[in-house]
Order: sequence, then C-alpha cells, then structure tokens
Amino acid sequence: MVYFASAKKDETETKMNAPAKTEEFAAKIPDGVYAETVLDVEHYTDRLFRFRMTRPAGFRFRSGEFAMIGLMVGDKPVYRAYSVASPAWDEELEFFSIKVPDGPLTSHLQKIQPGDTVLMRKKPTGTLVLDALTPGKRLYMFSTGTGIAPFASLIRDPETYEKFDEVILTHTCREVAELKYGLDLIEEIRNHEFLAEIVGDKLKHYPTVTREEFSHTGRITDLIENGKLFTDLGVPPLTPETDRGMICGSADMLKDTKALLEKAGLEEGSNSKPGEFVIERAFVG
Ligand code: A2P
Repeated sequence: MVYFASAKKDETETKMNAPAKTEEFAAKIPDGVYAETVLDVEHYTDRLFRFRMTRPAGFRFRSGEFAMIGLMVGDKPVYRAYSVASPAWDEELEFFSIKVPDGPLTSHLQKIQPGDTVLMRKKPTGTLVLDALTPGKRLYMFSTGTGIAPFASLIRDPETYEKFDEVILTHTCREVAELKYGLDLIEEIRNHEFLAEIVGDKLKHYPTVTREEFSHTGRITDLIENGKLFTDLGVPPLTPETDRGMICGSADMLKDTKALLEKAGLEEGSNSKPGEFVIERAFVG
C-alpha cells in the first residue's frame, strides 16, 4: 500500500524510462538495489491495481513487512514504501497499489506492463509482524483501502494459523469494486493446494463499504463501537485476554481504531516490545 499525503502536487511530470532491457536503462540502475521484472498486472478500478514481479534470490522478509519500491523517473529513482502483499514463502512478490494521477511514483507505476523493470531497495522492515504480538487466540486485522496489503501476506502464511485459532480480516472501502482484491484473495486461499487445509475455517473475512449499498456497510470504527462487528461474527467484544490486533490504513483510521483498541484494554506493541496490537505508520505522510 502507499499513501501520498506528503506528495508534492505541483511536481513536474517527467517521462519514465523505457524498460530495463535496454543497456541505457541498465546502466542507470542505482547500485545496491534490486531490479526486478514485472510478471503480471491486474487493474481493479481507476484507483487500484496489483502487480507481481520476480523475487531476488537473496531477498528475505517476514510476512507483513514493507519494502521501498521504485522506478527510474527521468534519470532519478523515485521510491515509496509498499507492503509486500505476498507471503514469505512465495517465489514471486506481489504489491497492491493506489493510483494517484499526479503521484511522483504511482502516476508512472500504474502504467507498468509484464517485462518492465521495477526497483526495490534491499532491506524490508515493518511492525505488522507476528513477532510483535504477544500470544493470543483471535487475531484481528483492520484495514482500509490498500491497507489490506500486509494482511494479504499474513493470511497466506501458515505461521499465522499456528499462532492463532481465529483470524478476522476486516476491509473497508468506499465502494464495492474496491473490495475485489480482497474477495479474490479469499477465493484463492479457499482453492489453494495446501493453504485451504491449513486455513480451514479459521479465517473470517469481513468486507464493508461506506459509500454504496452492500451486505455490510459502515466504517469499521463505528462497527466496533456499536458492537455490530462482533454480533455479525458471533464473537465476544474485544478483550486483551484473548484478542490481538493489527491496523493498516489512513492516518485518521489508524488513530481512531487505535483509540478503540486501547479503550478495550489492549496495549500497543512493537518489534522490540511485543504487545496486544500493532500499527503500521510508515505509509502516512
Ligand atoms: P468514508 O467513506 O466514511 O470516508 P480513503 O479511500 O479515504 O482512504 O477511505 C477508505 C475507507 O476508510 C473509506 O471507506 C472511509 O470511509 C474509511 N475511513 C476514512 N477515515 C476513517 C476513520 N477515521 N476511521 C475509520 N474508517 C475511515
């Protein structure tokens, strides 16, 4: 995922380089970064797309972490933080992205095609990792928009189901069409050769929209506050005894969801001090 709260709106549009197969482009790739090949691109709406690319042999990450993804724009690399949406065991890398018409990176990234080259800095990092949570029974993943990306990784990682009896992924978007990435993902897991058995009935998906009719509507914060989330899922309200949380979304959503988890008695954790919930702040400007 990527947010552009701090992106400069008046930035002059510069032309993206041709794909890296040309020697001219290859010569410009900065030292110490990976240059990977785009394998597949899927567009969902005029605001959302995902892509898959080759994974460098030496690139290790924990499911839920993010990396700096970039393109050469003119003769300069432009990078933004992106959660890796594929799980740690996957041979390829997947990313889910917003399209910002004048975004310094996404205005170019949204045009990539299979065979093109995408840059990636070598060191992944992030707080939405299982290691940052203390043991619990039920793991909530709260996401809005492209904030579902780190959870797309974690719900495809068998370790998530070794550590938790129940995994609840909430995804709130403005419109139904924006839920498609998440809906496809659940379908993929249900039909997956080995994941289907590992996941079993432990994974619950709770998609909601705020600006159209749908089976579930409303902001997740309202649905936590009025208890509808728990009634719909048939689970007790949030408690630090059994429940753990991960949050990824816009700055306001992070703030409001955090306040509700704290009100329920959960304490924030980090890589160095595991706790009852974690937040990814890297994407918010
Ligand atoms: P809403 O339509 O009521 O603004 P965005 O595309 O702006 O990032 O929003 C994605 C989703 O997150 C929308 O459904 C939006 O609802 C919701 N949202 C925005 N702000 C908050 C917030 N503070 N708490 C919970 N959900 C939010």
